[in-house]
Amino acid sequence: MILILLGPPGAGKGTQAKLLSSALAVPHVSTGDMFRDHKARGTELGLQIQAIMDRGGLVTDEITNGLVDDRLGRPDVAAGCILDGYPRTVGQAEHLDRLLARLGRPIGRVLSYEVSEEALVERIGGRRSCPTCGAVYHVVQNPPRRIGICDRDGASLVLREDDRPENVRRRMAEYVIKTAPLKAFYGARGQVLELDGLDAPDRILAETRRRLGA
Ligand code: AP5
Repeated sequence: MILILLGPPGAGKGTQAKLLSSALAVPHVSTGDMFRDHKARGTELGLQIQAIMDRGGLVTDEITNGLVDDRLGRPDVAAGCILDGYPRTVGQAEHLDRLLARLGRPIGRVLSYEVSEEALVERIGGRRSCPTCGAVYHVVQNPPRRIGICDRDGASLVLREDDRPENVRRRMAEYVIKTAPLKAFYGARGQVLELDGLDAPDRILAETRRRLGA
């Protein structure tokens, strides 16, 4: 089953993707995580996208589609995956259609997380991320055991560069213009499942599984 997770920055896509991946035993494929990994390793691609990402812009469709072509061609995703943060433009969605048609795989469902703007601001402001393992915390909702330290590997947690207020504004604007139209794109095919993103993470997971019958 291929599940696409849709929602604005901070809606909880990454949190739900990790829970779903573990519950359904399918890989979590996050373009944001892949790009952050390239940035952290200082690859040629990482250097190319660093400024765009840090300022809250979208990486070009060409680069992003190339990365996804490669990832979805690997054997571990043959039985399905959770697509977190992709597609993000109508161009990417059309590309994904062509890719999946070639691979002979259908899209299962598109999960759309509905969250108020007020909650998004609060979530992004309180998010702290581990630069080493990618674990995500929230200073109030999901704090680490020791303040500022990752539970998993002891690294110092950081505020993502694109989580700074001026960059969040740009990400939100990009979302409204380029990504929000995907809900209608998939909605016209009857593939969208709306979920209350304000609920607690485990309750959202349970509701998703109930509605997917999975
Ligand atoms: P990406 O990493 O995909 O960022 P995003 O879509 O902006 O999403 P976020 O990671 O900000 O939030 P989220 O919805 O995953 O929320 P989270 O679970 O962390 O992309 C980053 C950048 O990469 C883009 O801006 C772009 O530059 C580039 N990029 C990536 N994909 C691309 C593409 N396809 N095309 C072009 N460019 C691309 O939760 C947020 C906080 O809330 C956390 O602290 C969490 O603990 C907390 N929280 C989560 N759920 C709940 C809950 N239910 N209740 C209370 N708190 C919660």
